[in-house]
Amino acid sequence: MKNILITGGAGFIGSNFVNYMVEKYGDKYKYIVYDKMTYAANIDNLKPSEGKYELVHADICDLDKVKETLEKYDIDAVVHFAAESHVDNSIKRPLTFTENNVLGTHSLIEACKQVWGEGSENRFVHVSTDEVYGTLKDGDSMFVETLPLAPNSPYSASKAGSDLVVRAYCETFKMNVCITRCSNNYGPNQHEEKLIPLMIKKAKAGEKLPVYGTGNNIRDWLFVKDHCIAIDTVLHKGVKGEVYNVGGNNEKTNLEIVKTILKQLGKSEDLITFVEDRKGHDYRYAINSSKIKKELGWQPSVTVEEGLKQTIEWYANKEY
Ligand SMILES: NC(=O)c1ccc[n+]([C@@H]2O[C@H](COP(=O)([O-])OP(=O)(O)OC[C@H]3O[C@@H](n4cnc5c(N)ncnc54)[C@H](O)[C@@H]3O)[C@@H](O)[C@H]2O)c1
Repeated sequence: MKNILITGGAGFIGSNFVNYMVEKYGDKYKYIVYDKMTYAANIDNLKPSEGKYELVHADICDLDKVKETLEKYDIDAVVHFAAESHVDNSIKRPLTFTENNVLGTHSLIEACKQVWGEGSENRFVHVSTDEVYGTLKDGDSMFVETLPLAPNSPYSASKAGSDLVVRAYCETFKMNVCITRCSNNYGPNQHEEKLIPLMIKKAKAGEKLPVYGTGNNIRDWLFVKDHCIAIDTVLHKGVKGEVYNVGGNNEKTNLEIVKTILKQLGKSEDLITFVEDRKGHDYRYAINSSKIKKELGWQPSVTVEEGLKQTIEWYANKEY
């Protein structure tokens, strides 16, 4: 492996991944960031890696452009992050999600098949989400990789669709794919539409903090750097055709997260205001990561308390 294509590399997790790889491996690999630069992208996210990557400003739905890029840079591995990623937007404009996430992923892997050939050993890591498994009740067992997919939002349905396309390319064309399914990430570089940066921004400004429903929905929080370590592990050691769950083992309600933020910023809980719940809002996600831990030796490195502390400090120092 020499030249790695990172789709969606200017977004939240993709940029953390590029910065992590550049810091860890130096010049060992060449990094090509392939990104459409939607509202969710921010080139400043890649500042720590300036001069160490090349940017291709293009759409994964453009099969010819992907093929040209794979050939031009002699790409021999793809880490695929590019997606529309915000559930609320998928409720407002669902077709955009099917187009970018399902068709986009299909176009990307078809381009890889055409350029690399069937049965190629070049690795394709598809970054997916635990939301494809649906929702849990209190007391239900955590998600494992063998569960049937039962997505509930247009976002998670589009991710499930993309997982199935990637799986089919492994079965039919013997492509060397691995799929990762992670829980909610948090950390630097996240777009302020998402819970943690939004709440920090509003708390800093002394504005009301809108919390959906009762605030009791549970998410399993994963520090983005730990996710990047997991993807690096799968890229190098994952077994062809396997799915790996990645979770932080940190189940917290949205309300607990918001209260932690307010406490750390020294703000009053009176700022919390409950707003009408999100349509089809999944109640609980909890992910069993035993497989990646046992088979590939991955471990999360921080507790949610430590990770949140670092994250809140990062956003608190950010100029909006
Ligand atoms: N953030 C999370 O908590 C989380 C959790 C589980 C899974 N994921 C998955 O991880 C991946 C990255 O998520 P994120 O939070 O960094 O998302 P993000 O929205 O911050 O970034 C997505 C990036 O993809 C780019 N992009 C979107 N459509 C594109 C297209 N058609 N062609 C090329 N580039 C395109 C955007 O410009 C952006 O830079 C996504 O696939 C998402 O489904 C995210």
